[in-house]
Amino acid sequence: MRSTIVLGTLAAAASASPALARRQYGTYKPLVTSEALQADITKEGLLEGAQTLEDFAYAYPRRTRIIGSEAHNDTVNWLKEELEALDGYYDVSLQNFFTVAMITGQINAFKVSGSNASASLFEYSASGNATAPLVVVANRGCNATDYPATVSGNIALISRGSCDFGLKSALAGTAGAAAAIIYNNAAGEFNGTLGVPPRPEGNYVATVAISQQLGTGFVQAIAGGANITATIDVTTDIQNVSTYNVLATTKGGDQNNKLALGAHTDSVLAGPGINDDGSGTVGILEVAKALSKYEIKNAVTFGFWAGEEEGLLGSTYYVEHLPANETAQIRGYLNFDMIASPNYIHAIYDGDGSAFNVSGPPGSAQFEKFLEDYFTSAGENFTATAFDGRSDYGPFLDVGIPSGGTFTGAEEIKTEAEAAAFGGEAGVALDKCYHAACDNVANLDLDAFELHGKAIAAAVATYATSWEGFPARNTTVARRSVPRARRTNESRHHRSRRSQPLKK
Ligand code: PHE
Ligand code: ZN
Ligand code: ZN
Repeated sequence: MRSTIVLGTLAAAASASPALARRQYGTYKPLVTSEALQADITKEGLLEGAQTLEDFAYAYPRRTRIIGSEAHNDTVNWLKEELEALDGYYDVSLQNFFTVAMITGQINAFKVSGSNASASLFEYSASGNATAPLVVVANRGCNATDYPATVSGNIALISRGSCDFGLKSALAGTAGAAAAIIYNNAAGEFNGTLGVPPRPEGNYVATVAISQQLGTGFVQAIAGGANITATIDVTTDIQNVSTYNVLATTKGGDQNNKLALGAHTDSVLAGPGINDDGSGTVGILEVAKALSKYEIKNAVTFGFWAGEEEGLLGSTYYVEHLPANETAQIRGYLNFDMIASPNYIHAIYDGDGSAFNVSGPPGSAQFEKFLEDYFTSAGENFTATAFDGRSDYGPFLDVGIPSGGTFTGAEEIKTEAEAAAFGGEAGVALDKCYHAACDNVANLDLDAFELHGKAIAAAVATYATSWEGFPARNTTVARRSVPRARRTNESRHHRSRRSQPLKK
């Protein structure tokens, strides 16, 4: 009882006059509470951070924060400075890694029989400009023997399916094709990645994706004796890129019972990425700044990941380079990728597997329940979103770290049921600017941003204080045996734009 009274007196003194409290009590800070930390997260603060990121992107003609860009490097340096400005509350570091990225890519022309046609460029496509007959490749173009000699100097027309896009482009290259077209094996258009070069089977050629309708039409016409000439003119710039994760770990708190949380700092080439994932970046940054005013019991690590858009590169690099004893120190990981979508839903990762049959390691269900309770007490509806490998929780799940987090939606179309639960417009994408140039500050919904920002604060305050009711880490969990297969598995999705780039 007595200690409660003393604490109360200290807290009153601190709030009455922080300067006086500092003089009297040195480094005294009150223990963090959910209410206090949530109160520190404001629309103004979130908006200011988002504006800073947009300003970085718009200061350069390319208006992107893709890894390797000036604006992405500005983002990384700004985060480091912001976190270092908190009077040594955090150990802050940059974690450098290297990859190959397509830093520009465009289709200058795609014409069939002289008329413009619709195609999309594969990531990591070579540059090229060819006008030549289409030559149909046998089967699905997964074997060198599928490529007739007549492909040489001409444009290979290949069906999607059975193997990676990259294998098809490389085999077309080895067969001497001037360019390649991969047509869909299901309705609609698609896009994807050839995968980071090089490949042992050969060099990529200029490669584009077209719809099944267009592709099978060409195949039939050619089978009927027609000669079809196409023009493929694409320019890409593929470079070795050096990039950085930003890591900040509290100096205080029990390092053996750490909470980790993360968001990705990079955008796609097409736009500044302010909802995807400037929102998560600023959300966790604002919480990190607010947390520094408080005492904590458990340590917290904030991870700002690079290269998410090229396939979870930064979070994968982090997890793969973490010593086993440090992996074991992380009780759980919370991910925030897109938390201010303009036509939002309030989604929580399906930790218990009740909605999508893919559960996370023990503890993931507790994270989900915690966040459900948060939305309930805020008077808001919530729904579940699958652990489908599309964001940076993936590498954490792979090593058995329980995960959770929130999400307000990407390219998916809002259903009537979602409109009834969350408002907004049914039949319209949850984020109509997903992976597009218009993903800027004007794309954000500030109510969703604030609500999810406060959810981050609530979770951090809670787990930085106690893991009560949370299962102990099972640190003997083996690395999941099939993470690679899971990453390229597209059976659960037929989406046109995704962050885990489609490889087949
Ligand atoms: N990670 C995806 C992207 O960056 C978006 C996404 C986030 C999808 C969370 C599903 C769940 O493009
Ligand atoms: Zn994202
Ligand atoms: Zn994205």
